Amino acid sequence: MSAVPPDGRAERGVERQGRPRAVGKDRNMDQKPIGVFDSGLGGLTTVRELIRLLPGEDIVYFGDTGRVPYGSRSKETIRKYARQDVAFLRTFDLKAIVIACGTVSTTALDLLARENPIPILGVVEPAARAAAQATRNHRIGLIGTQATIRSGAYERYITSALPEAQIFARPCPLFVPLVENGRFHRGDVVIETIVREYLSPIRDAGVDTLVLGCTHYPLLEEVIGDFMGPDVQLINAGAEGAREVVEKLRLSDALADRAEGTRRYFVSDRVEDFSRLASIFLRQDVTGDVTQVDIGQF
Ligand code: DGL
Repeated sequence: MSAVPPDGRAERGVERQGRPRAVGKDRNMDQKPIGVFDSGLGGLTTVRELIRLLPGEDIVYFGDTGRVPYGSRSKETIRKYARQDVAFLRTFDLKAIVIACGTVSTTALDLLARENPIPILGVVEPAARAAAQATRNHRIGLIGTQATIRSGAYERYITSALPEAQIFARPCPLFVPLVENGRFHRGDVVIETIVREYLSPIRDAGVDTLVLGCTHYPLLEEVIGDFMGPDVQLINAGAEGAREVVEKLRLSDALADRAEGTRRYFVSDRVEDFSRLASIFLRQDVTGDVTQVDIGQF
């Protein structure tokens, strides 16, 4: 558990470079699909929110299932993979790209936004803003992958919105494999033990808000909520990111004008493995094409 000291220089850099460009109506992009990507299929938790909020949008999703997880990798590797993911998505004519992955949002958003002439939206800034607004006692917990916690990005965004905030951050590397193996239900002794192990110091610090800074953690909302207690507000980074997408598209008049959009899914590993995991994260049966791509080519 640690409160990462604010780095003024980095904070200004993130603010300047990480802010997504406006989505422009003048570019006549409203019917184009939204691209979404993640290190794997966890980003479908954000797609689920997008579909709920914007059922008329076409979505092109890329999940790097052949190289997941990103969260335990170096910054350089995460940035290299993220660039390839975006290069693949840009083979489509998109109106915006959403980084559903907490790890990529904290580690590569500035780079991707700088290098690409289309709006790139991450989950960190909206989630940090929501946490800063939600807290009453200015004590905020943060959980994510090792790379997310190491980046210090949440601390920079939260303290720029709320300078007096104290952040208690902790990487939770076992959550991703446990969720992917279906161990996320109430009453499961394995996940409840790991939740206690990881979150006890954060609960003991007296936080009143906890940021779930990883694609997989929304599935743990019940177990984490039970452990933290009813007075701690959970902030789902993917859902905050999805709300931000809606807001940005609406403000720039770039929403699609149709009742029901299409969904196309691309993965970098076998498509046969897609359905089981995808339905865990989407919490519904998956409809739409699934295709394997060789991401190494991009
Ligand atoms: N998608 C990642 C995230 O949200 C979790 C899985 C991984 O480590 O790649 O940080």
